[in-house]
Amino acid sequence: MADAVVSTAEPTRRDFLYLATTAAVGVGAAATVWPLVGAMAPDADTVAAGAPVELDLTPIAEGQIVKVFWRGKLIFVRHRTEAEIKAAQDVNLDALRDPQPDSARVKEGHADWLVVYGNCTHLGCVPLGNSGEYNGWFCPCHGSVFDTSGRIRQGPAPINLPIPPYTFVSDTKIRIGESGATA
Ligand code: FES
Repeated sequence: MADAVVSTAEPTRRDFLYLATTAAVGVGAAATVWPLVGAMAPDADTVAAGAPVELDLTPIAEGQIVKVFWRGKLIFVRHRTEAEIKAAQDVNLDALRDPQPDSARVKEGHADWLVVYGNCTHLGCVPLGNSGEYNGWFCPCHGSVFDTSGRIRQGPAPINLPIPPYTFVSDTKIRIGESGATA
């Protein structure tokens, strides 16, 4: 099993704390942390192995979005605030291009955590977190706007940010790459 570790070097920073995952090599895999922009290349062993990665949620502050890589793909893990959850739940589904209730995009009992793939569903740019009219994500390439559930609300992207397979192995840890029992 591979691990992913969050840096707490800048606990007040709301966005773009980059995480790097490491592959397990024997017992007690080491984890490497690149706290911010710059050295964000995923660990080659992890990418090659395609194994599930575990992420400790404890250091991720409410309102913060972190980025992890799994199978070479960028994933956003967002610790949603009460206001962000409410905004996501209160949306009229008829108004959505890709109608999906917020409850179908989070795990039961864990509405404060949103886990989505991190590339825009238009042409693959990386949207900016806590941005855009709905304070979800804004894609600067062509103006797609996603809400706090990662659903497309404006712009050319045709569908919501997809949800990767993941499961809660405890209240404070998720395993990305493995589907859980709950939706
Ligand atoms: S790639 Fe995001 S709007 Fe085009």
